Amino acid sequence: MDAITNVCEYESLAKEKLTKMVYDYFASGAEDQWTLAENRNAFSRILFRPRILIDVSKIDITTSVLGFNISMPIMIAPTAMQKMAHPQGEYATARAASAAGTIMTLSSWSTSSVEEVASTGPGIRFFQLYVYKDRNVVTQLVKRAERAGFKAIALTVDTPRLGRRESDIKNRFVLPSYLTLKNFQGLDLGKMDKSNDSGLASYVAGQIDRALSWKDVKWLQTITSLPILVKGVLTAEDARLAVQAGVAGIIVSNHGARQLDYVPATISALEEVVKAAQGRIPVFLDGGVRRGTDVFKALALGASGIFIGRPVVFSLAVDGEAGVKKVLQMLRDEFELTMALSGCRSLKEITRNHIVTDWDAPHSLPAPRL
Ligand code: GLV
Repeated sequence: MDAITNVCEYESLAKEKLTKMVYDYFASGAEDQWTLAENRNAFSRILFRPRILIDVSKIDITTSVLGFNISMPIMIAPTAMQKMAHPQGEYATARAASAAGTIMTLSSWSTSSVEEVASTGPGIRFFQLYVYKDRNVVTQLVKRAERAGFKAIALTVDTPRLGRRESDIKNRFVLPSYLTLKNFQGLDLGKMDKSNDSGLASYVAGQIDRALSWKDVKWLQTITSLPILVKGVLTAEDARLAVQAGVAGIIVSNHGARQLDYVPATISALEEVVKAAQGRIPVFLDGGVRRGTDVFKALALGASGIFIGRPVVFSLAVDGEAGVKKVLQMLRDEFELTMALSGCRSLKEITRNHIVTDWDAPHSLPAPRL
């Protein structure tokens, strides 16, 4: 796979390899897919204000997330059912993340269990949580994640119902019968029935709690001592509520544009959330990150780190663990180069003044210093 020179190239190769049903499931956004395109387009409207003649012979991109030291501010977002992409599925992703010295977030709907992923060896891992109507299921699962050494819970808060992904409806998407939602095996919730709709949408309608509210965040805090990240915040109002709820951090996410269509790109919503969080808790971002320049832009707008989703799934489909490693390495190299070319030697040297956005009024540019 030496011919691959950037993260985006994996998508068309994955499309050739995967069945239509599987490719469409991973690739699709909701309804008109406006937000899906906007997650990328919005990055292209942010430009750099690079600084020159700064000694960039040494660049440090290491950081710490919730107190865990990692090699770079680039982490792996939860994506479901990775064995549909590659037989090694989540095992391969876990190994690639740990080789790269970064964090993997495992989906609740993984096709390998928390224990199986832990068995791949050491690594800093977070667990993404969907709250089922049956709270015993949730309690058991959170305890298992804790015992398996997961370090934080990323609570998905944007999915009281599944967004309408029309290709999944057309394809009658369903988890292939040779696979299981491994965390739920034994609870009789590991399989997905065929339906006239997306099988996943029907599964969510049957099992996931539509009544989830801030009260449940409090409840979750009583059943686990793990830090909780709220994943799916897009507004200042909810950022303030998250701070009040005492969560450990916020992930600005629109669920890869798979839930409510016509929400802004996450990179457009980020700054509002960062301002509302007032530095009291870290804010992360996922959605549309495909380049090292995107990572830099997110950090310049106040993110403490970013997560990548589809690039992992597509590279996994094409080349398994080696593919995911390559994606992480390419983003790392591009990000480091972006830092060098903008005159930043460490993450704390990345500032708001290193970028200009279309919502900056011309006069809001810093006054030139002579
Ligand atoms: C899973 O979280 C999905 O959005 O399909």
